Amino acid sequence: MTDATRSPLRQSAVHESAHAHVTGAARYVDDLPEPGGMLHGLPVGSPVARGRVVARRAERALALPGVRAVLFAADVPGHNRIGPIVHDEPLLAEDEVFAVGQTVALVIGDSVAACRAGAQALELEFEELPAILTVAEALAAGSFLCPLHEMRRGDVAAALARAAVVIEGEVSTGGQDHFYLETQASLAIPGEDDTIHLESSTQHPTEVQIACSEVLGCPRNHIVVAVPRMGGAFGGKESQASQFAALAALAARHTGRPVKVWLSRDLDMTMTGKRHPFWSRYRAGLDARGRLLGLEVELVADGGWSVDLSPAILDRGMFHIDNGYFVPNLHFVGKAVRTNKASNTAFRGFGGPQGMAVMEEVLSRAAERLGLDPAEIRRRNYYGDCPDEHGPENMVHVPVPDDEQTSAGASVISLVRARCLTPYYQEVPHCRLPRIHAELLQRCDWDARRAEIAEFNARSPWQKRGLGFMPVKFGISFTNTMLNQAGALVLIYADGSVQLNHGGTEMGQGLHTKMLAVCAHELGVTTAQIRCMATATDKVPNTSATAASSGSDLNGMAVQRACAEIRERVRPLAAELLGGVAPEAVQFVAGAAVAPDGRKLPWSELAKTAWMRRLSLSAAGYYATPNIAYDRSAGRGKPFHYFAYGAAAIEVEVSGLTGEHRILRADLLHDVGSSLLPTIDLGQVEGGFIQGVGWVTGEELVWDAKGRLLTHGPSTYKIPAVGDCPTVFNVALLEHAEQDGTIHGSKAVGEPPLMLGLGVVSALRQAIAAFGPGEVALQIPCTPEAILRAVVRQREGAAVAPAADAAE
Ligand code: MTE
Ligand code: HPA
Ligand code: MOS
Repeated sequence: MTDATRSPLRQSAVHESAHAHVTGAARYVDDLPEPGGMLHGLPVGSPVARGRVVARRAERALALPGVRAVLFAADVPGHNRIGPIVHDEPLLAEDEVFAVGQTVALVIGDSVAACRAGAQALELEFEELPAILTVAEALAAGSFLCPLHEMRRGDVAAALARAAVVIEGEVSTGGQDHFYLETQASLAIPGEDDTIHLESSTQHPTEVQIACSEVLGCPRNHIVVAVPRMGGAFGGKESQASQFAALAALAARHTGRPVKVWLSRDLDMTMTGKRHPFWSRYRAGLDARGRLLGLEVELVADGGWSVDLSPAILDRGMFHIDNGYFVPNLHFVGKAVRTNKASNTAFRGFGGPQGMAVMEEVLSRAAERLGLDPAEIRRRNYYGDCPDEHGPENMVHVPVPDDEQTSAGASVISLVRARCLTPYYQEVPHCRLPRIHAELLQRCDWDARRAEIAEFNARSPWQKRGLGFMPVKFGISFTNTMLNQAGALVLIYADGSVQLNHGGTEMGQGLHTKMLAVCAHELGVTTAQIRCMATATDKVPNTSATAASSGSDLNGMAVQRACAEIRERVRPLAAELLGGVAPEAVQFVAGAAVAPDGRKLPWSELAKTAWMRRLSLSAAGYYATPNIAYDRSAGRGKPFHYFAYGAAAIEVEVSGLTGEHRILRADLLHDVGSSLLPTIDLGQVEGGFIQGVGWVTGEELVWDAKGRLLTHGPSTYKIPAVGDCPTVFNVALLEHAEQDGTIHGSKAVGEPPLMLGLGVVSALRQAIAAFGPGEVALQIPCTPEAILRAVVRQREGAAVAPAADAAE
């Protein structure tokens, strides 16, 4: 890297657990040594999508060897209802069930096999009731999970009337299973005085603590939740680890013995929620040069049977309809519907990808109508001024009162004129997309390759190539402002060794590695002198989920503050021990306090002397993101601390005979600010992108007419494999990209690159368009079947079959 503005952290570029991951020494919940007398708990789900529970009898199950107990709703001593926003989910079903796989009973036994036998022997009877299985049915029935969310500006009708091109249509995006390698798992160990210690695979230890305390009817201080690490989470363990942890806690309380609840892959896929499928309807007007004038969108999220995080996911979807483009006149309406499916939940991007998919479809279709390059139409619409595009005739017409102001106090009309106001009235101060765009097009040799591809397609009747483009702008902060806070606790022992605790959880994303680097930098020690401890609610209380990509932003600041406090406490002592130098002149680097003349005092000696002099060697740090707020009922505010940006140029080759495709090349340029640790960030960009590619291509969830998921294992649900990765894969981080007001100028990276995967749709459309004239109709996910249908339609639309075809 040659970035002159890069962050000062350069100590460790290797994932803190890499050695343990590759040797198998890394412990996940199910690897922990099993405590004596431990039992297993197996949740048993409803077989029907909706029904009344008519009978629940456990006698036959209880008679089996190794079955210790069977728990139903009536066995819950506290509240039976859990849920992250609204407590609307019975931990164990009450009178009615609302989805296949909704937990009805918990079988507790000596082994998983005994529990499975017990589950088979349970006598559960249901009277089936009519179920709502699609978004269309839910809309027709008025089955909503939360109030509408609306955003408005200007006059869309007038804008559409003025438009050179009007495009109307519908977009659906499918669900996605998290397919974390480690399925849901929790181990509950009962302690003295009705306390419980849990080891849980959760992104949100505090929420697990809350759920367990409410289910058991005890104060939160009776519950300790620890997270060793997760074998992947991707949002699937933000809210949905809680029910399995609470079941383990309930079983531990009931039996007085440790209980582990672990789900097999099939059970996990059946019981847990997925990415929300969205259905949307839009009407867009653009001028003759392809610039958006007005956009109307109805965005509908399929939330499944309970509220879970659906309102927040819908909100993030609404916040990302614009993606990186200025929309002068707009009206967006968001709805979350209740259906009788597993309750859908957080998944990397959290509604953002689904919102963006609508805009990208609009721009793709407009480009096809206007005969524009897919990158160029996007460039013309970016936030911010592009002077070459702004003659006076292009001045936006938006009827806004002159004195209207944003919540940040800026003039609305001037921000509209500068094309830098989002649909929710947050300013986009320095949109980095024009810069990223120019740099990426150059890096990937865009123009030359477009020409080569056109030539290839002219020669090749059945294999067609396409070059697609996808920019991303993603808002960073929890959209629920209150969640943007974090804490840390740093302990220094008298030998100088350090224990670092922070509120974030490690799911493979490298958060602990980054926090170690922040801590090492701040104390001037080496990462080898620090241990990052398992996340635990008895070290840092009241944490938010590690989610919204904000783990390092929030916890990094808290770690920095805790470390700085200790460092400043020992600074005068260091100055004294270095022979009375000026305290402010002492530097803390590489495991020593260093005097201006270069003399060194080892950190271990400083710590020991600080202890002997009775200086406190521990400190807590706390951080809350400043200056953010959003008024949902008004559809206005500043929900995000800043935006992360990126872009992808992707080349695919499609077979017109089978509908299969390969990604020949992908060039990604992503903005992570001044990277805290480039190797970790590059891994996140690559992994996020591939996960996004999976969502829009091979990953397809199929349910039968009774609402039963048919794709509940790797044999039927296809996540991307190594062979699906681009043959040429160039990933780069934007340089000279420092961000104000963040930890060492860095930006969040966890989710934004996922949306670069949508670039594959753009590329596929280009390839499909080469089969015949006219606009492409391509469904997401772009499975081989969907691609083949689109190709056939394109070929049938062709006025005359290309000569080459006849020769075949
Ligand atoms: N990377 C790995 N390897 N495993 C994961 O489960 N989750 C993603 C992302 N990257 C995930 C991941 C999601 S959904 C989020 S919100 C962020 O990591 C959370 O971590 P961060 O805030 O520390 O980036
Ligand atoms: N992103 C991710 N997770 C969340 C959010 C969000 O904005 N809000 C609540 N949980
Ligand atoms: Mo990530 S979907 O915010 O856990």
